[in-house]
Amino acid sequence: MRENELIKLLGEMSLSEKIGELNQIPGEYYKETLNTTGENATLDFPQELVNAVGSAINVSDPDLIIKIQKEHIKNHPHHIPMLFMLDIIHGLDTTFPIPLAQACSFDPELVKELSAAAAKEACATGIHVTFSPMVDLSRDARWGRVMESSGEDTYLNSVMAKAAVEGYQGDGLENEGTISSCVKHFAAYGAVEAGREYAGVDISERFLREYYLPSYKAACDAKSGMIMTSFNTIGGVPSTANKHLLKDILRDEWGYDGVTITDYGSLTNMQSHGISDKDDVLSEYAINATVDIEMCIGRYYKGLPKLIKDKKITEKQIDDAVFRILKLKNRLGLFENPYRFADAQKAKQICRGKEMMDIAYNAVSQTSVLLKNDDNLLPLNKNEKTAFIGPFLESKDLLGGWPGNLKYRSEDKSVREVLEKNLPDGSLLMTVGCEMLGAEEPMLIKRKLPCETDEKARKDKINKAVEIAKAADKVVLLLGEHPRAGGEITSKVDIKIPIIQQELFNAVKEVNDNIIVVLFNHRPLDITHISKYAKSILDVWFPGSMGAKGIVDMLFGINAPTGRLTMSFPYSVGQEPIYYGLLPTDHSTDVSDTFVTGYIDCPLKPLYCFGEGLTYTDFMYDKILLNSKTLAKGEKMVASISITNVGKRDGYETVQLYFRDVFASVSRPTKQLRRFKKVFIKSGETVKVQFELTVDDFMFYNVDLNYVYEPGEIRVFIGHDSNTEDYETFQLV
Ligand code: BGC
Repeated sequence: MRENELIKLLGEMSLSEKIGELNQIPGEYYKETLNTTGENATLDFPQELVNAVGSAINVSDPDLIIKIQKEHIKNHPHHIPMLFMLDIIHGLDTTFPIPLAQACSFDPELVKELSAAAAKEACATGIHVTFSPMVDLSRDARWGRVMESSGEDTYLNSVMAKAAVEGYQGDGLENEGTISSCVKHFAAYGAVEAGREYAGVDISERFLREYYLPSYKAACDAKSGMIMTSFNTIGGVPSTANKHLLKDILRDEWGYDGVTITDYGSLTNMQSHGISDKDDVLSEYAINATVDIEMCIGRYYKGLPKLIKDKKITEKQIDDAVFRILKLKNRLGLFENPYRFADAQKAKQICRGKEMMDIAYNAVSQTSVLLKNDDNLLPLNKNEKTAFIGPFLESKDLLGGWPGNLKYRSEDKSVREVLEKNLPDGSLLMTVGCEMLGAEEPMLIKRKLPCETDEKARKDKINKAVEIAKAADKVVLLLGEHPRAGGEITSKVDIKIPIIQQELFNAVKEVNDNIIVVLFNHRPLDITHISKYAKSILDVWFPGSMGAKGIVDMLFGINAPTGRLTMSFPYSVGQEPIYYGLLPTDHSTDVSDTFVTGYIDCPLKPLYCFGEGLTYTDFMYDKILLNSKTLAKGEKMVASISITNVGKRDGYETVQLYFRDVFASVSRPTKQLRRFKKVFIKSGETVKVQFELTVDDFMFYNVDLNYVYEPGEIRVFIGHDSNTEDYETFQLV
């Protein structure tokens, strides 16, 4: 449709039609009334609203989507098609590694590929919008949702946000295989106090702009079709009512003209925040902040007409919101083809097909992080006697929190099955050693997950594991968090692996020194004890549908892990939130000094830092070279370094460039990532890696909130991870 036709359409719509457009309906409604599957939903959506709603959430069956759309167009006074939205967080039917792991690839092209693959499955299924990427800067591992993020660094977050949007949306939403992204949660949900789910955020405007907002902006600049508000308050103001954030910054400063949506029931959430219990008051806050769609509760439907009647808001405000939604529908080509590319047959062919599974498999080694590999215990050698022990040995669910389609939680191969298929000579020693959870775990209370309740069985399983471990040259222990212990509502104060698995680890370490831990997790865990006794630790996060094969092939060296941490692993939960690049202090960072900054019982630094990770070969860095001693506006600084693969195997190295602005009018971090490059280097070869920098790379918000750079000394660090201390200096002039 041309823009003037859209304007005409808007002009013809009645007020109630327009208000309908601003409401989203839960998919359960249709599952009930159209008499298909689904639970009963207690919905208060009158028929008038149902006929006019602009979108639905949580329908993921192509035939049902076509059926609903057909009915809707028939009943809608202007036959406007609906948008179908869903949370596709790390794949729809094919599950890819969790987003936090995807970021660990340090490869935006991979993130783009995985998002594009998810979009391809979703598009054939009839979905138009995914509630992804989540780009909330995440520095506190207690918060369960860190798994949906790219981690602790502002720059990396922004790069990955852009990559994900480009992956989902491809070269244009009119094209087959694409869906619109909806970046979330605006803003700073990752900074909830003490990692407590749904808690408030208190953050200065300067830090908000400097560290938290750039990733949302990157997604908006990449033309994300939508953006979602967050549940949290900032300084007491709920994000959904935050005019400063949504109107002044998002719309006016950034010029964002896409669609904004509340999080699920955010208006009701605002009521819980103590803002009001009245539909019109809550709606007034949100519409004045230019929030276009209310997700699922129908308070806009109840509140907006009164606001118009009482002349508290103008119809123009409603029109602006509706027009943004119509424009997105038009971008998606829905006016020409309301069913878009929904096709059950095609979806069947694409979803979980070979192409998808290959993509999922390739992602595993690129997203896994080898944290430790003493004595080069990995890769394994088929001639050695290796024992495989742990509750993840037989688990078919390596998908982790928030997979696209729950029905595939038990359809993929387990590590045991892959091992048996590949190494059928009976040389393998295997036993689970324990259940994933013991009855003492607090997360069982609500979630009714299976756990070990039989004390004798608990002991017997561990004893069997010990016997097997004694007989082996090496032991691979597959341990970690429960696959449901990540995502929304999974905040924790204890970030160790479950107690029953700790018992297994401790028993096995007594009888075998060559322990390799394969770690399954949604977040950085406290693995200080494990790290002391295990010689190798391979963090595979939750690797997705092809996790088992991906892991086995890494263990045996068919592929090498090449991921790097994007969130620090603490020594202790007491260090959270923890991240690299703290603000400098004049005190010592040495725990044994009297005036030590940080703690007297724990180092200031994490156990494993941002950027850290090994592979199956080693690299040597030469000196950093800068092509000039000064950098002025309009100029380019070239920083370069030569890196040699000094190991016996070809491999990937992620070269990281950090900087420090030594003196500035406000305190600046001790280190900030500014560039990175993942390069392939053959054994024995040397490559030169170059990075170009301009003054824009050194801008920051000064005390007056102006975005500036200040003349002075800049240190450029290039190295293997954020611990690198090698730097060269130049002057910004
Ligand atoms: C979550 C969002 C999600 C939405 C829709 C909310 O509870 O916070 O991230 O997109 O539900 O499922």
